[in-house]
Amino acid sequence: MRKTRAVITGVHGWVPDYVLTNKELETLVDTNDEWITSRTGIKERRILKGDHQGTSVIATEAVKGLLEKTNTSPDEIDLIICATVTPDMFFPSTANLVAANVGANKSYGFDISAACSGFLYGLTVGSQFIETGFHKKVIVIGADKMSAIVNYEDRSTCIIFGDGGGAVLLEPTTEDLGIVDSILHSDGGGADYLHMKAGGSLRPASLETIARKEHYIFQEGSTVYKFAVTNMAEVSAEIMAKNNLTGDDVDWLVPHQANKRIIDATASRMGIGPEKVMLNIEKYGNTTAGTIPLCLWDYESRLKKGDNLILAAFGGGFTWGSIYLKWGYDTK
Ligand code: UT7
Repeated sequence: MRKTRAVITGVHGWVPDYVLTNKELETLVDTNDEWITSRTGIKERRILKGDHQGTSVIATEAVKGLLEKTNTSPDEIDLIICATVTPDMFFPSTANLVAANVGANKSYGFDISAACSGFLYGLTVGSQFIETGFHKKVIVIGADKMSAIVNYEDRSTCIIFGDGGGAVLLEPTTEDLGIVDSILHSDGGGADYLHMKAGGSLRPASLETIARKEHYIFQEGSTVYKFAVTNMAEVSAEIMAKNNLTGDDVDWLVPHQANKRIIDATASRMGIGPEKVMLNIEKYGNTTAGTIPLCLWDYESRLKKGDNLILAAFGGGFTWGSIYLKWGYDTK
């Protein structure tokens, strides 16, 4: 009998209504639409406005939609994993808040902090619970409210990030579908180039840390760019070679949406054309853990049962990785 795999049986995304355009950013910092578009591919991003609106709002909406479209009762959910670097609070976990919001009262959950690779980490962890038979229904969320940690006076970061996320349902299958392979990497040496200086146990929040604007993303963009281009392309090529896949065998590349130039380099290294690359960076920017589920959600109607997908990401940590999966269903 074929080994049990975890297969995605539904995906749903959610983004807030407010659209922050390149034009509006021109009024905040010294930048322009031409620079942002040519250097990143981003035209606009969504922002979650209002008081008491944390990442759990995004994640809860995504999970509610997911439960509805997959006809799943909240009581059937065994485990909720939420990948995010912008949890509502240090604790409790955002996964716990989402479970309470959707009434998944028999589930338990936890958060994963792996920045832009968080959804790949979450999918890999979640799939183990299904493959071993320990659980039947696992929800994996990737969601971030990046506007909570973006300095809108820093033109090198504020143009990139946005708010949004999505969620998938994992269930067991013995068909030749689902998550086939996963390669994950991390290198803490990358922390120097992409981090948030204060607010953690190393430098707790104080008047000084606030005055020094240390509760925002710090990124040495061009260094991160170099590591991202190399590693996202390498790990994607690595998972293809390991599974004897050529560019012709791959139906879709689902790349983390950080910069269109990084995505193009990855596709080129994999030997696949732009028609097979999921792209929505122009409308959402970089939503960190949210980008990959948002891509799957946007392209869901074009996916066919059995399609070969390569998911790839690189981000803070550094963390990076790639997942090879076979899509589980045709959209009704
Ligand atoms: O998702 C998590 C991982 N993060 C990433 O993958 C992001 C990787 N990095 C990047 O995508 C790019 O490095 C950025 C988009 C952040 C920056 O693009 P870049 O081509 O690497 O630009 P740069 O930082 O090397 O800056 C080039 C020039 C500089 O001016 P000078 O020194 O050459 O006069 C910057 O000051 O562009 C200037 N610049 C800007 N100009 C207009 C930087 N940001 C802006 C801006 N508008 N927003």
